[in-house]
Amino acid sequence: MKRESVIGRANVDDTPELEAYYRALEGEALGALWNVANEIEPWYPQPKSVPVLWKWRRIEPLVRRAPELVSAEKAARRVVMLVNPGRKEWSAAAGLLYTGVQIMNPGEFTSAHRHQASALRFIMEGRGAYTVVDGERLALCPRDLVLTPNGTWHDHGIDAGGTQCVWQDGLDIPMMNALDANFFEVHPDVLQKPAPLSRENWSKPYSPVFKYSWDESYEALKKSTTHSVFDGAVYQYSNPVTGGPIMPTIGAQLQLLKPKEQTKAHRHTGSAIYQVAKGRGWSVIGGQRFEWEEKDIFALPSWAPHSHGNSSASEDAVLFSFNDFPAMRALALYREEETK
Ligand SMILES: [Fe+2]
Ligand SMILES: [Fe+2]
Repeated sequence: MKRESVIGRANVDDTPELEAYYRALEGEALGALWNVANEIEPWYPQPKSVPVLWKWRRIEPLVRRAPELVSAEKAARRVVMLVNPGRKEWSAAAGLLYTGVQIMNPGEFTSAHRHQASALRFIMEGRGAYTVVDGERLALCPRDLVLTPNGTWHDHGIDAGGTQCVWQDGLDIPMMNALDANFFEVHPDVLQKPAPLSRENWSKPYSPVFKYSWDESYEALKKSTTHSVFDGAVYQYSNPVTGGPIMPTIGAQLQLLKPKEQTKAHRHTGSAIYQVAKGRGWSVIGGQRFEWEEKDIFALPSWAPHSHGNSSASEDAVLFSFNDFPAMRALALYREEETK
């Protein structure tokens, strides 16, 4: 029990009589709120997630070994997960977000499936990667973003003439499990047959655009007039029909830090996972400083103060990130404030 001597907070002394009473409650599947109230109703968010930086040069050799050890078919999805030390039981990288790095050889594919979790992929390297989403085949190049929104059939693969490909997967699997709302289905056929997808009167809760090419997104980022003192220049990947986020639970953005630019620090509810798309720099998260370079991935827990900086005096730095802010906003839980 966490006692606090503040009016309105639980502050009960243990006595032999009370201890016997607690045992009697437990026997009937009951409990005394005052024993846990201060813990389950913290003054502010107390994430179990910790800030983590995964250096690509450290994880890359381990990712490359996976295809030598397990077939794409047996693994179903051959992914090395990025697991937050504080969220192991949820397979989360931060908060209620999952991320992993998937590796595939030319000619390999994952069988078609769909799930309640919303998913995206940010391509890291290789030639010949493709994703089929609801019958539509999308060819993918490094740093393209592709969505496989909740409930869409999808399968992935690499053309036989391509090269080994690596990408980052981002999903809200832990959120779906926290809400006890997860489903998974395999397609009746191993692979989907290509079929045109009608986008007339689009009313689905996610973007009708499944692929956001790097070239176009990066151009838009460089021209972006949205500048935040906390993020630098920002390009939001958005649903062109609504102007809102790409998927109901997951948002994504690119941010550009000019040479030597440093952002102010802030914090907000909601978690984010970053991948360095270009350049090198640093982020201070919850008082810890992390130095990053291209392809490094790092986790931002909810409510942790954070700021970013570009270390280079001549090159731009670009961060790709995805987050659970749409879910936070939909539930009226999004909160943000400047910090020191
Ligand atoms: Fe999937
Ligand atoms: Fe932020």
